[in-house]
Amino acid sequence: MTIFRIDGGEATLLIDATTGAPPAILWWGARLREDSNVEAVARLLAVEGGPGGPDTPVAPSIAMEPGLGFTGVNGFAAHRNGRDWASVFAVERVGQDGQSLTIDCADPQAAMTLQYRLTLDAQTGVLTIAATLTNTGVAPLTLDAMATACLPIPQMMTDIIGFKGRWAHEFQRERAPRRAGSWLRENRTGRTSHFSFPAMILCDADTNEHAGEAYALHLAWSGNHRLRVDTIDDGRVFASLGALLLPGEITLAPGARFDSPAIVAGYSARGLTALSQSLHAHVRGALLRPQTRAKPRPVHYNSWEAVYFDHDLDRLKAIASRAAAIGVERFVLDDGWFGSRRDDTSGLGDWTVSHAVYPDGLGPLIDHVTGLGMEMGLWFEPEMVNPDSDLFRAHPDWVLGVEGVAQTPYRNQYVLDIARTDVSDYLFDRIDAILSAHPIGYIKWDMNRDLNNPGGVDGRPRAHAQVAALYALIDRIRAAHPQLEIESCASGGGRIDYGILAHTDRFWTSDSNDAIDRQDIQRGASFFLPLETLGAHVGPRHCHMTGRVLPMALRAGTALMGHMGLELNLLTEPEAELAELAAAIALYKQHRGLLHSGDLVRLSPGAPISAMGVVAQDRGEALFSIAWLAGHSETRPPLLRLAGLDPAGCYALDCVWPHTPPAALARLSGETFAGDLLMSTGLRLPLAKPETLVLLHLVERG
Ligand code: DGJ
Repeated sequence: MTIFRIDGGEATLLIDATTGAPPAILWWGARLREDSNVEAVARLLAVEGGPGGPDTPVAPSIAMEPGLGFTGVNGFAAHRNGRDWASVFAVERVGQDGQSLTIDCADPQAAMTLQYRLTLDAQTGVLTIAATLTNTGVAPLTLDAMATACLPIPQMMTDIIGFKGRWAHEFQRERAPRRAGSWLRENRTGRTSHFSFPAMILCDADTNEHAGEAYALHLAWSGNHRLRVDTIDDGRVFASLGALLLPGEITLAPGARFDSPAIVAGYSARGLTALSQSLHAHVRGALLRPQTRAKPRPVHYNSWEAVYFDHDLDRLKAIASRAAAIGVERFVLDDGWFGSRRDDTSGLGDWTVSHAVYPDGLGPLIDHVTGLGMEMGLWFEPEMVNPDSDLFRAHPDWVLGVEGVAQTPYRNQYVLDIARTDVSDYLFDRIDAILSAHPIGYIKWDMNRDLNNPGGVDGRPRAHAQVAALYALIDRIRAAHPQLEIESCASGGGRIDYGILAHTDRFWTSDSNDAIDRQDIQRGASFFLPLETLGAHVGPRHCHMTGRVLPMALRAGTALMGHMGLELNLLTEPEAELAELAAAIALYKQHRGLLHSGDLVRLSPGAPISAMGVVAQDRGEALFSIAWLAGHSETRPPLLRLAGLDPAGCYALDCVWPHTPPAALARLSGETFAGDLLMSTGLRLPLAKPETLVLLHLVERG
């Protein structure tokens, strides 16, 4: 037995990569003592054969390929016309480079090789696994299914937290006891989807935000996915994540390879908040560009909910002037500036400025915006085309579809086959022309429909290729415009994942700007994403999505706990609300350094209160947001225990939002409290009205 060991953060990874046998994850979980005997671990974990099963137990592998004869879980299915299906991948070579392992495996009989690349980050303990399958035979190989990896999870992890949602209501958590059989989430929308953020958390029934063991697993992929947890007949548990492949989608010619999306996984024995912190550290260190991290996240103005398709230069200039006056730093012109795009039925794909709306081009608006000291941002939806467009009229064959199968109607638009070079060249040229002609520092990259029948010209499915082509197109644009920042949007949060984040800078978290909904959406997203990646806008008083009428203090305070922006008509806002908004923007600027670099802490005071905060890495400062989403059912306000502070520190408490804080908090403001008291006794919250929000700022006084 040849066991490789990697330690990082709170975790240890032991891989059995014995030459000639399939590689297996022996242990992934709590960090083992440095002097632990890994062979002893193998003996402790060994499974015996027994009655009603094979005489010698069948060992699991990372691939769980069919030739193992392991009947409980299957993670791999490839064949050549019904042959060569019983693959077994035996280790040929292993290379270790510090925290990383490369394991080369081969099945000479079925003529395939499989390479694993695993890294366990030394600081964060985040495990990354990617795999590459190569057809080494002389005939094409059909790949029907491939989990990037199947990971053994300790049976004590009895709960599964999945993510569900819908358009304008993303990142809802669903915690359920794990049961015998399979927990399965499959996504066939061709994008990450609103309803199945590709992740799961496995934890102990007692695990909460601040205590207990938890495993987080995420598939860094913006397309179809299959996530499963199998609790097999003997009680063992395996989590598998991989791309979901459509029938006949992947056929590998001799010598061709298939690169799996990566699994990014975390482990903590200190609860869900600590788990999120390690994942956030991974996002900051491994996914976000240093230049994106170094620049304070500018306050956005986005034109969508203010004007929709009703673009008017003078009105937009007036809005921009007001935006700049209250502290906005980036003005993003949303959908409607190009071609015949006066509503969503027309013009998509024609990426030239509409002279009907902007007779002198975008120059006058951009000059106005930059003259006010703001950056300019622009909306695109590159992967799509309206049938009523010059592009479609010229190239009807550029869209994905299947001959003889009707297109599924979806926001009056079709999907372009961007894996075609002529299509991606066209898109690059159009976007590049606009970015080269104007000082545009930011694009909002939208994507507003599923890929229902994504056939290419040869009739084969192209959903997987579409995602790879998307990443390549974005990278090409970024290479040509290195300063450009990109927001990933898909009808709000339909394309949020680590795969796209490696190519972009920010997410449009949700189309719902309703602050009540946003409290929970942002909390859900925070399980895997740090606040600086989550676009959060102050919407109109009368929320367009839900019809709720919410006060500015709640709307602004909610947007502040993310990458703050505005998305309301500043020309119709009352002066008093604009002044309140300006104050919130100033507060965001004061605290964004902390919010976007510190450790996120989710608090659990219980309904109707939603609370979370960010504590500086050195514990010297913290900002907590406490929102009352509804009225209290009890007459006495509850206690709120803070978390993440230095127990030995003394913190000066200040209620920094709203300007007139509830009396109970105003009384505490300016006082200094020991960190351990704030975290153990907690502090008595005021009996606040529904739909109010306070921000508490704490500074360590030594
Ligand atoms: C969907 C996005 O989520 C919105 O913010 C907006 O950009 C519209 N598309 C524009 O069509």
